[in-house]
Amino acid sequence: MRTPCIAANWKLQKTVAEVEAFIDAFLPLVEKNTTVEMVLAPVFTALYAAGKKLSGSNVGLSSQDVYHEESGAFTGEVSPSLLQDVGCKYAIVGHSERREYFNESDEFLNKKAKAAQAAGMTVIFCCGEPLEIREKGGTNDLLARQLDNGLAGLDAGALVLAYEPIWAIGTGVTATPEQAQETHNFVRSHVGKVLGAEAAASIRIQYGGSVKPGNIKELMACEDVDGALVGGASLEAESFAQIVNFGG
Ligand code: PGA
Repeated sequence: MRTPCIAANWKLQKTVAEVEAFIDAFLPLVEKNTTVEMVLAPVFTALYAAGKKLSGSNVGLSSQDVYHEESGAFTGEVSPSLLQDVGCKYAIVGHSERREYFNESDEFLNKKAKAAQAAGMTVIFCCGEPLEIREKGGTNDLLARQLDNGLAGLDAGALVLAYEPIWAIGTGVTATPEQAQETHNFVRSHVGKVLGAEAAASIRIQYGGSVKPGNIKELMACEDVDGALVGGASLEAESFAQIVNFGG
Protein backbone atom coordinates (compact mmCIF):
# COMPACT_ATOMS: atom_id res chain seq x y z
CA MET A 1 0.00 0.00 0.00
CA ARG A 2 1.28 3.45 -0.95
CA THR A 3 0.59 6.23 1.57
CA PRO A 4 -1.01 9.12 -0.32
CA CYS A 5 1.04 12.32 -0.38
CA ILE A 6 -0.76 15.62 -0.98
CA ALA A 7 1.23 18.85 -1.24
CA ALA A 8 0.27 22.51 -1.44
CA ASN A 9 2.33 24.52 -3.91
CA TRP A 10 1.77 28.18 -3.09
CA LYS A 11 4.05 29.48 -5.85
CA LEU A 12 4.79 33.24 -5.58
CA GLN A 13 2.08 33.95 -3.02
CA LYS A 14 1.61 34.61 0.71
CA THR A 15 3.53 36.81 3.13
CA VAL A 16 4.99 35.43 6.37
CA ALA A 17 1.90 36.61 8.27
CA GLU A 18 -0.41 34.96 5.72
CA VAL A 19 1.50 31.69 5.89
CA GLU A 20 1.35 31.72 9.70
CA ALA A 21 -2.38 32.46 9.65
CA PHE A 22 -2.94 29.61 7.19
CA ILE A 23 -1.05 27.14 9.38
CA ASP A 24 -2.92 28.24 12.52
CA ALA A 25 -6.23 27.63 10.75
CA PHE A 26 -5.13 24.46 8.93
CA LEU A 27 -3.52 22.32 11.64
CA PRO A 28 -6.70 21.89 13.75
CA LEU A 29 -8.62 20.85 10.62
CA VAL A 30 -6.18 18.05 9.81
CA GLU A 31 -4.93 16.94 13.22
CA LYS A 32 -6.90 13.69 13.00
CA ASN A 33 -5.64 12.89 9.52
CA THR A 34 -3.25 9.95 9.89
CA THR A 35 -3.72 8.51 6.41
CA VAL A 36 -2.29 11.22 4.17
CA GLU A 37 1.27 12.58 4.12
CA MET A 38 0.58 16.33 4.00
CA VAL A 39 3.09 18.91 2.79
CA LEU A 40 3.11 22.71 2.45
CA ALA A 41 5.44 24.55 0.05
CA PRO A 42 5.57 28.30 0.81
CA VAL A 43 7.92 30.84 -0.81
CA PHE A 44 11.52 30.84 0.46
CA THR A 45 10.95 33.93 2.62
CA ALA A 46 8.25 32.22 4.69
CA LEU A 47 9.98 28.84 5.16
CA TYR A 48 11.63 29.68 8.48
CA ALA A 49 8.39 30.90 10.07
CA ALA A 50 6.44 27.98 8.59
CA GLY A 51 9.02 25.48 9.85
CA LYS A 52 8.64 26.79 13.40
CA LYS A 53 4.84 26.57 13.24
CA LEU A 54 4.82 23.07 11.70
CA SER A 55 7.43 21.61 14.03
CA GLY A 56 5.99 18.62 15.89
CA SER A 57 2.86 18.54 13.70
CA ASN A 58 1.68 15.96 11.15
CA VAL A 59 2.34 18.35 8.24
CA GLY A 60 5.70 18.52 6.45
CA LEU A 61 7.48 21.49 4.90
CA SER A 62 8.81 21.75 1.36
CA SER A 63 10.70 24.29 -0.69
CA GLN A 64 9.50 25.04 -4.21
CA ASP A 65 13.00 24.70 -5.63
CA VAL A 66 16.56 23.94 -4.52
CA TYR A 67 20.07 24.47 -5.87
CA HIS A 68 22.58 21.67 -6.39
CA GLU A 69 25.62 23.31 -4.79
CA GLU A 70 26.02 23.36 -1.01
CA SER A 71 27.67 26.76 -0.67
CA GLY A 72 29.89 29.24 -2.45
CA ALA A 73 29.62 31.96 -5.06
CA PHE A 74 26.09 31.24 -6.34
CA THR A 75 24.25 34.51 -5.84
CA GLY A 76 20.55 34.10 -5.25
CA GLU A 77 20.54 30.33 -4.76
CA VAL A 78 19.55 28.21 -1.73
CA SER A 79 21.17 24.86 -0.93
CA PRO A 80 19.61 21.66 0.45
CA SER A 81 21.29 21.95 3.85
CA LEU A 82 20.10 25.55 4.29
CA LEU A 83 16.57 24.41 3.49
CA GLN A 84 16.85 21.63 6.04
CA ASP A 85 18.17 24.18 8.51
CA VAL A 86 14.75 25.90 8.43
CA GLY A 87 12.78 22.66 8.63
CA CYS A 88 12.30 21.53 5.01
CA LYS A 89 12.12 17.79 4.52
CA TYR A 90 10.97 18.05 0.91
CA ALA A 91 11.99 19.98 -2.18
CA ILE A 92 9.88 20.38 -5.30
CA VAL A 93 12.10 20.02 -8.36
CA GLY A 94 11.20 20.61 -12.01
CA HIS A 95 7.83 22.30 -11.79
CA SER A 96 6.71 23.18 -15.32
CA GLU A 97 6.97 26.87 -14.46
CA ARG A 98 10.66 26.38 -13.62
CA ARG A 99 11.18 24.44 -16.83
CA GLU A 100 9.37 27.00 -18.97
CA TYR A 101 10.25 30.41 -17.47
CA PHE A 102 13.74 29.58 -16.21
CA ASN A 103 14.77 27.13 -18.93
CA GLU A 104 15.59 24.36 -16.46
CA SER A 105 16.61 21.25 -18.37
CA ASP A 106 16.10 17.64 -17.33
CA GLU A 107 19.85 17.32 -16.74
CA PHE A 108 19.96 20.40 -14.51
CA LEU A 109 16.91 19.19 -12.58
CA ASN A 110 18.58 15.82 -12.12
CA LYS A 111 21.56 17.55 -10.46
CA LYS A 112 19.24 19.45 -8.11
CA ALA A 113 17.30 16.32 -7.20
CA LYS A 114 20.49 14.33 -6.55
CA ALA A 115 21.92 17.06 -4.32
CA ALA A 116 18.68 17.35 -2.34
CA GLN A 117 18.55 13.59 -1.81
CA ALA A 118 22.23 13.42 -0.89
CA ALA A 119 21.49 15.94 1.88
CA GLY A 120 18.62 13.78 3.13
CA MET A 121 15.62 15.50 1.55
CA THR A 122 12.70 13.89 -0.24
CA VAL A 123 12.30 15.22 -3.77
CA ILE A 124 8.92 15.91 -5.35
CA PHE A 125 9.93 15.64 -9.01
CA CYS A 126 7.49 17.10 -11.55
CA CYS A 127 6.84 16.05 -15.12
CA GLY A 128 4.12 16.83 -17.63
CA GLU A 129 3.30 17.81 -21.18
CA PRO A 130 1.97 20.97 -22.86
CA LEU A 131 -1.32 20.85 -24.78
CA GLU A 132 0.25 20.80 -28.25
CA ILE A 133 2.27 17.70 -27.36
CA ARG A 134 -0.82 15.91 -26.03
CA GLU A 135 -2.77 16.83 -29.16
CA LYS A 136 0.00 15.44 -31.36
CA GLY A 137 0.05 12.19 -29.38
CA GLY A 138 3.54 12.87 -28.04
CA THR A 139 2.78 12.74 -24.31
CA ASN A 140 4.41 9.41 -23.53
CA ASP A 141 7.56 10.16 -25.51
CA LEU A 142 8.02 13.47 -23.72
CA LEU A 143 7.38 11.95 -20.30
CA ALA A 144 9.82 9.13 -21.05
CA ARG A 145 12.50 11.69 -21.86
CA GLN A 146 11.77 13.76 -18.75
CA LEU A 147 11.96 10.63 -16.59
CA ASP A 148 15.00 9.07 -18.29
CA ASN A 149 17.07 12.22 -17.88
CA GLY A 150 15.50 13.60 -14.73
CA LEU A 151 15.42 10.50 -12.55
CA ALA A 152 18.71 8.84 -13.52
CA GLY A 153 20.61 7.79 -10.41
CA LEU A 154 17.96 8.96 -7.94
CA ASP A 155 16.96 7.07 -4.81
CA ALA A 156 13.35 5.93 -5.22
CA GLY A 157 12.97 5.78 -1.45
CA ALA A 158 13.26 9.57 -1.18
CA LEU A 159 11.27 10.44 -4.27
CA VAL A 160 7.68 11.40 -5.03
CA LEU A 161 6.65 12.09 -8.62
CA ALA A 162 4.12 14.69 -9.66
CA TYR A 163 2.48 14.29 -13.05
CA GLU A 164 1.11 17.68 -14.04
CA PRO A 165 -0.31 18.16 -17.53
CA ILE A 166 0.57 21.80 -18.25
CA TRP A 167 -2.81 22.41 -19.91
CA ALA A 168 -4.49 21.59 -16.58
CA ILE A 169 -2.40 23.87 -14.37
CA GLY A 170 -4.29 26.93 -13.17
CA THR A 171 -6.78 26.59 -16.01
CA GLY A 172 -9.71 24.96 -14.21
CA VAL A 173 -9.46 22.14 -16.78
CA THR A 174 -8.62 18.94 -14.90
CA ALA A 175 -7.50 15.78 -16.65
CA THR A 176 -10.35 13.28 -16.48
CA PRO A 177 -9.76 10.39 -14.09
CA GLU A 178 -9.34 8.17 -17.17
CA GLN A 179 -6.68 10.47 -18.66
CA ALA A 180 -4.92 10.72 -15.29
CA GLN A 181 -4.96 6.96 -14.72
CA GLU A 182 -3.73 6.18 -18.23
CA THR A 183 -0.81 8.58 -17.97
CA HIS A 184 0.03 7.67 -14.37
CA ASN A 185 0.13 4.05 -15.41
CA PHE A 186 2.58 4.92 -18.19
CA VAL A 187 4.72 6.96 -15.77
CA ARG A 188 4.79 4.07 -13.28
CA SER A 189 5.81 1.55 -15.90
CA HIS A 190 8.50 3.89 -17.19
CA VAL A 191 9.86 4.37 -13.66
CA GLY A 192 10.30 0.61 -13.72
CA LYS A 193 12.65 1.00 -16.69
CA VAL A 194 14.66 3.80 -15.10
CA LEU A 195 14.73 2.82 -11.40
CA GLY A 196 13.56 -0.80 -11.35
CA ALA A 197 10.38 -2.77 -10.69
CA GLU A 198 10.47 -2.34 -6.93
CA ALA A 199 10.70 1.44 -7.29
CA ALA A 200 7.83 1.45 -9.77
CA ALA A 201 5.58 -0.45 -7.37
CA SER A 202 6.34 1.70 -4.34
CA ILE A 203 6.73 5.22 -5.74
CA ARG A 204 3.94 7.73 -5.08
CA ILE A 205 2.74 9.58 -8.18
CA GLN A 206 0.82 12.77 -7.48
CA TYR A 207 -1.56 14.29 -9.98
CA GLY A 208 -1.44 18.07 -10.39
CA GLY A 209 -3.56 20.49 -12.39
CA SER A 210 -6.75 22.15 -11.10
CA VAL A 211 -7.22 19.71 -8.22
CA LYS A 212 -9.98 20.94 -5.91
CA PRO A 213 -12.28 19.61 -3.16
CA GLY A 214 -14.83 18.61 -5.81
CA ASN A 215 -12.56 16.36 -7.89
CA ILE A 216 -9.98 14.94 -5.44
CA LYS A 217 -12.04 11.85 -4.61
CA GLU A 218 -12.43 10.65 -8.17
CA LEU A 219 -8.75 11.29 -8.91
CA MET A 220 -7.65 9.44 -5.77
CA ALA A 221 -9.86 6.51 -6.74
CA CYS A 222 -7.56 5.86 -9.73
CA GLU A 223 -5.25 2.94 -9.06
CA ASP A 224 -2.04 4.76 -9.99
CA VAL A 225 -2.86 8.17 -8.48
CA ASP A 226 -1.23 8.40 -5.04
CA GLY A 227 -1.75 12.01 -4.14
CA ALA A 228 -1.88 15.51 -5.54
CA LEU A 229 0.15 18.65 -6.01
CA VAL A 230 -2.29 21.50 -5.52
CA GLY A 231 -1.89 25.16 -6.48
CA GLY A 232 -4.93 27.46 -6.45
CA ALA A 233 -7.17 25.30 -4.27
CA SER A 234 -4.47 25.02 -1.58
CA LEU A 235 -4.36 28.74 -0.83
CA GLU A 236 -7.30 28.65 1.61
CA ALA A 237 -6.95 26.47 4.72
CA GLU A 238 -10.54 25.22 4.53
CA SER A 239 -10.25 24.22 0.88
CA PHE A 240 -6.89 22.45 1.26
CA ALA A 241 -8.14 20.69 4.41
CA GLN A 242 -11.11 19.36 2.45
CA ILE A 243 -8.68 18.05 -0.16
CA VAL A 244 -6.37 16.23 2.27
CA ASN A 245 -9.37 14.96 4.25
CA PHE A 246 -10.96 13.55 1.06
CA GLY A 247 -11.22 10.12 2.70
CA GLY A 248 -13.65 11.50 5.29
P1 PGA B 1 -3.23 24.39 -9.88
O1 PGA B 1 -1.62 24.28 -9.87
O2 PGA B 1 -3.74 23.44 -8.82
O3 PGA B 1 -3.52 25.83 -9.57
O4 PGA B 1 -3.68 23.98 -11.24
C1 PGA B 1 -0.97 23.05 -9.70
C2 PGA B 1 0.52 23.23 -9.78
O5 PGA B 1 1.00 24.04 -10.58
O6 PGA B 1 1.27 22.55 -9.05
